[in-house]
Parts: sequence; C-alpha cells; structure tokens
Amino acid sequence: MARIELEHVTKRWGGYYAVDDLNLVIENNAFVTLLGPSGCGKTTTLRMIAGLETPTTGRITIDGEVMFDSDLGINVPANKRRVGFLFQNYALWPNMTVYQNIAFGLSNINESGAAVNEKGEIVRDETGKAPARKLTKEEIRRVVDRVSAIVKIGPFMDRYPSELSGGQQQRVAIARTLAPGPRVLFMDEPLSNLDAKLRLEMRSELQRLHLNTGSTFVYVTHDQMEAMTLATRICLIENGVLQQYAEPLTIYNQPRNTFVADFVGNPAVNFVAARGAQQADGSLALEMLEGRKAIFTPTEPVKTQDFFQQVEEEQQAADSKKREAEKTNKDQIFQCAIAKVEEEPEEDRELDEEDWIVGIRPEFIRISDQGAVEGEIFSAMPTGMETTVKLRVGNLLLTGVVFGGVIYQIGQKVRLDFEGENLMIFSRKNGRRMAQGTLKVL
Ligand SMILES: Nc1ncnc2c1ncn2[C@@H]1O[C@H](COP(=O)(O)OP(=O)(O)O)[C@@H](O)[C@H]1O
Ligand SMILES: [Mg+2]
Repeated sequence: MARIELEHVTKRWGGYYAVDDLNLVIENNAFVTLLGPSGCGKTTTLRMIAGLETPTTGRITIDGEVMFDSDLGINVPANKRRVGFLFQNYALWPNMTVYQNIAFGLSNINESGAAVNEKGEIVRDETGKAPARKLTKEEIRRVVDRVSAIVKIGPFMDRYPSELSGGQQQRVAIARTLAPGPRVLFMDEPLSNLDAKLRLEMRSELQRLHLNTGSTFVYVTHDQMEAMTLATRICLIENGVLQQYAEPLTIYNQPRNTFVADFVGNPAVNFVAARGAQQADGSLALEMLEGRKAIFTPTEPVKTQDFFQQVEEEQQAADSKKREAEKTNKDQIFQCAIAKVEEEPEEDRELDEEDWIVGIRPEFIRISDQGAVEGEIFSAMPTGMETTVKLRVGNLLLTGVVFGGVIYQIGQKVRLDFEGENLMIFSRKNGRRMAQGTLKVL
C-alpha cells in the first residue's frame, strides 16, 4: 500500500527552479513514469519523494503520513520512509554471492515489529512500536527464496556477480531491492545500461513484477517509448514544470500542448502551420499545406474565444504566483519544428489568434489515388512490417507510416489525405491544444 501526494513541491538552487510547484498524486499500486528531456527535474523529483533530497518548499505524504513539510519543519529520513531504490548503476557486492547480496539488507532490519510469514513476506504491526528484533536466519531465507522466485534467479544463489550475465545481475539488483518489502519502488533509468534487446525483455519483466508485487512503482526515464509501454500514468515534465499527467493514450491522443505532442510518438508528430478562423458551424476554415484550403472539424464542440480566454486566465494565474526568487530558467512556449525540404526564413510577424498548428500523427496520413493532396515520395524506409515514408508536399515534408510491405520509389508521385478523428489543432500563439478532430483538404 502506498499513495503518494506532492503538494506545491519546489526545489530551487538560487534562482534555478529544478522542480517548480509540482502537484501530483500517485495512486496506490500505480506504475508512474516521470518522463522528460535530460535536466528537466525527474531525478530531483524522485529523490525528494524518497527522502534523498530536501525540497525547498512544499509537502509530501505517503499513505497520509507526512514525510516532508516545509511549514511544519517535518523531514522523515530516507531510511525511515520504507521505500526501495533501483538506480542505473545497481552495483552488486562483487565479493558476495547472489544469496548474500539479496540477504544483505535484511540482516539489519530490526525495524519495530517486523517478522516474516510462511510465504516469505515481511509483516509489520500497525503501531510500528513493538520491540525491535533482528530477523532470524530462517526468516531471511524465506524472504530471499520468495524474491528470487519473483525474478527467476533461484538457480544462481551461490554464484558471484561476475559469473552472471547483465540481465541476471539486473534481476539480482531487483531482488535485493524487493527483499525488505518496500511500499514504493523508485527506479531511476534502471535499464539504460543494458543493450536494446535486453532492455525490451526487462521492460516486460518489470511489468510482470509490478503485477506480482502489487507495489507502487515510480520510474524515471527520458525514453518516451519506455514510458508509454510501462506506465499506468505518465508525468511529463519540462524545465521543472509539469506539462501533463495522464494515461499514456491520453498523452498520445490528447496532448496538452505542442511540447507534449512532439515528445511522445515515434516517428514524431507532423506539425503543419495553418491560418484561419472559426465558422458559424464550429469548424475552422484553414489555409495550409502551401495555399490549400482545408476544414478542421472538432470532435467535441469548442469556441475559440472561450479557449483563448481560458488559456489567458491560466497564464495570468501562473504569472501572478508569488515566488521567493526570480526564476532564472524561464519558461518558454515550445517552438515546434515544421519540417521543410529547403530551409526558408521565418516570416517576421506577430502571431495572432488565427495562427494554428495542425498536428498529424504519421499513421493518420493515408496514401491513396483518391487523396486530395498531391505529393511525392521523398524517402522510404521499409522495415518489413511497415514503411516510414517522407512525403514532399511543395516545400513541406510530412512523415507517414504505411503498414505492410509496400514498395515506393523515390520521386514517385502519390496522393494523400488525412484520416481519422484524432488530428489535433494547437494555437500557434500559446502552444496549447484546442481540439481533436478531422481534417478535410478541399
Ligand atoms: N545539487 C545541484 N545543484 C545545482 N543544480 C542541480 C543540482 N542537482 C541538479 N541540478 C540541476 O537541476 C536540474 C534537474 O536535474 P535532474 O533532476 O537531475 O534532471 P533529470 O533527472 O530530469 O535529467 C538540472 O538542470 C541539474 O543541472
Ligand atoms: Mg536523471
């Protein structure tokens, strides 16, 4: 059992806000990934929850128990938070066997009231006030047996780390972390030292581990694919600021802004600039794709005025927040890259409320003879299962994915359009997504 709550947690070094007013609830038994580019504040966030870093301000609770509160002056030390860690460098003790490595942390559990049941689980009494005693040898054996069965390293108990493969070592490290019965498991890029194939395998095992232990997992990664595939919820951070906290498919289909849209998805989303206004029927009449007319029809009714007003109010609220120090790492609106064949100078004008970015995931591009848009194959990369194509439309480049073993010639003329209801429209001015919908090129 572990439900973690962060309220207004900030960590700054002088004017540098590594974590900026973070509010987050991690539900019991969740598998939450902290995702974002290098330096965005993932590790700092994890370390603050674990008690390895002291927040500048804010409050952190685990299961309703206050672990940190800057106003109350409470700061529970890491070793009293009953949490486990798995880091990128999971150094095992080289002079100890697998068994000894796993058992090591158990010999000094003389936590109040701890005992081990028949299944090898550590049971703690509710008060936590019972007299401390060390676990017996037999109890330790039961725990080691249980956790080594979970990660399937039972047959290797007497080996030394140097006699194990990278994947087996990783499993020993996991077993060692699980042994003391942590209520939360914190992992900071634990797979980044492994080769690609093993990483994929360990991902699947971590998913099983999460299921089998029923613990809460908080997992740091900069790899969007890892976050998408593992998490029950993704917490996407940029420049210390929470961008979106949602289930993976919500992040993918309903990204809050252009930064989020760009960060998840491989190949990345296509951004296409558009200009136009909302019509009486709610659709947007756009000019895009080098002078073509198109209609974007939102799936859910939306009024552009309401959207701009709401974003404005949110920004004002954010700007008027009291700060103890001026933020030197300023927040900026993400500049989305619009792919072009030939670089051309940016138009030098003020963006207004008729400037949009249409977000088109590669799988929404349909190549067919009926397509409304003329294009040309710029490059084609078949993998066997699918082909990633770059399509040239005038000076614009769009990336599409075609399933199956289709062969395209470079320079081949094709026609295309955009299918589905999950195209996205963002304001270019504020970067925020206004709606999902369909896009019809006239
Ligand atoms: N002890 C420190 N003193 C000053 N700046 C730090 C310290 N630790 C981390 N930072 C800065 O805080 C930012 C966030 O760091 P970190 O949480 O490690 O990022 P991530 O794990 O997302 O890559 C980085 O810009 C980093 O340089
Ligand atoms: Mg880090």
